[in-house]
Amino acid sequence: MACDYKILSNLDLENLVNEKQSFALDVLVGLSETPKRLSSRYFYDDRGSELFRQIMDLPEYYLTKCEINVLERNREGIAELVEDTRFNLVELGAGDGRKTSILINHLLSKKMDFKYIPIDISEGAMKELAKNLNEKFPSLCGEGIVAEYFNGLKWLGKTASRKNLVLFLGSNLGNFNKSQSRVFLRNLWNTLNNGDLLITGFDLKKDIELMSRAYNDSRGITREFNLNLLKRINRELGGNFEIDKFRHFSSYDVFSGAMESYLVSLEKQTVYIKALSHKFTFEAWEPIHTEYSYKYLESNIVDLAEATGFVIEKQLYDSKKYFVDSVWRVLKVTSPDEVI
Ligand SMILES: C[S@@+](CC[C@H](N)C(=O)[O-])C[C@H]1O[C@@H](n2cnc3c(N)ncnc32)[C@H](O)[C@@H]1O
Repeated sequence: MACDYKILSNLDLENLVNEKQSFALDVLVGLSETPKRLSSRYFYDDRGSELFRQIMDLPEYYLTKCEINVLERNREGIAELVEDTRFNLVELGAGDGRKTSILINHLLSKKMDFKYIPIDISEGAMKELAKNLNEKFPSLCGEGIVAEYFNGLKWLGKTASRKNLVLFLGSNLGNFNKSQSRVFLRNLWNTLNNGDLLITGFDLKKDIELMSRAYNDSRGITREFNLNLLKRINRELGGNFEIDKFRHFSSYDVFSGAMESYLVSLEKQTVYIKALSHKFTFEAWEPIHTEYSYKYLESNIVDLAEATGFVIEKQLYDSKKYFVDSVWRVLKVTSPDEVI
């Protein structure tokens, strides 16, 4: 059976307006704070998504290679989790879906009854994904949703009654700090049903040089990716950032376990953003914080699952044990006696 893979964007018009408004509001709030900050969520306009695809191909960016290895080694184990069930394969922040293709290919070859529902805020990434899916998998059913994670999940909750296997791959969760991760996972738990499954990617703590190289590549693509955030503000909000007057900087904090990225102002300067009717002043060497990429100990993963209502089913590693896709099941108990 052939299924034409469709994209649903603007779940309603209000959503689109809200996304633009939240970008403007977050820039206003973030650049008014001390220290200044911008959310990594806004990296992914069309240009940012294209740059991220280039990052995944870099030899230094071990994360993608490791997770491909995890999925290649464990595709059958993942299929067994949902055998004999009709289910939705939901993917949060799917990007170009190159890793998920490994799994989709396997599930289709086993003739399993599922729909693939990627949710991504980037329309550019979703168009690329839908094009790839239509070419590679003409029999794949489902629809791609251009939306913020929880708007997409809310829409899904209203329309679907199948079991869910949710993928949250890469190290997307690592962009949240400890309390934000807990809030995110508990919100996810609230939108899912008892017994639904979640597979989350965690980049494990390892050699510091190896991690640092992944965020400071020799070709300068990560630098370009980080600076694109300022270019996006110029394009979409009428900013006048002079890009050459900022530099990319990334470093690892051993104590918090985060690779952190910054844009540093190289001189004293003022930037005007038309859509905000606001001027921001920068001192020489003043940083803007742009990204956390948290790295985890095994014990951190166990704590996170326990604190948010999930039960760990399996830990799926790559051959070097640099990365883990952790398989969790939603546990919703109805009486205190059932709590484990
Ligand atoms: C680091 S990329 C990872 C892509 C893919 N999961 C992978 O592992 O290769 C993050 C993706 O999540 C999307 N994203 C980031 N924040 C989002 C949000 N709040 N809601 C929906 N999508 C989001 C981005 O557009 C981007 O495609």
